[in-house]
Amino acid sequence: MVHADASNFAEGITKEQAYTQVLLQAEGLFDGQRNWVCNLANAASLLWHAYKSLPSPSNQVNWAGFYVLDPKSIQSKPQLILGPFQGKVACQTIAFGKGVCGAAAESQTTQLVPDVEQFPGHIACDGDSRSEIVVPIVVGKDGEAGKLVAIIDIDCADLHGFDNVDKKYLEKLAELLARSCDW
Ligand code: SME
Repeated sequence: MVHADASNFAEGITKEQAYTQVLLQAEGLFDGQRNWVCNLANAASLLWHAYKSLPSPSNQVNWAGFYVLDPKSIQSKPQLILGPFQGKVACQTIAFGKGVCGAAAESQTTQLVPDVEQFPGHIACDGDSRSEIVVPIVVGKDGEAGKLVAIIDIDCADLHGFDNVDKKYLEKLAELLARSCDW
């Protein structure tokens, strides 16, 4: 049964432990539930509470959520549309290739940005954001090129908010979401 305690993270745990709990809780929540809105909403909650339980810079995360492929855009120019998230209101649509999110969507590769001001074309939804990590969610990677269905976007109010630990675990979460939802 789904319980709000899934979003409780113990004080003093490491980032690796927090992400491991996120992945375990997410796997439990996705068991028997393949709706992407539902699963991305719970994943955003898990991530947000995990970051808030950690020391700086992780607890300075000010936005954690998702953009999904806008189904209305596929026949024309592909764009992302805002999905479930935690944090302040954000840009509604982002064209592939624009900003950090659009770069991750177009290239299907993780964008780890230690200083957003150094990223050409960064979209400043919130001037408080100083660093950012964006991880693509791709389905059907076996064999042919996969299809981008969504991206994970995490923003931090500190510079250098993210490292390869974040990249490793968020990529695991992206793989879990890719196979656990009907896109
Ligand atoms: N900064 C992002 C836009 C999305 S918001 O941060 C939520 C970008 O450059 O793609």
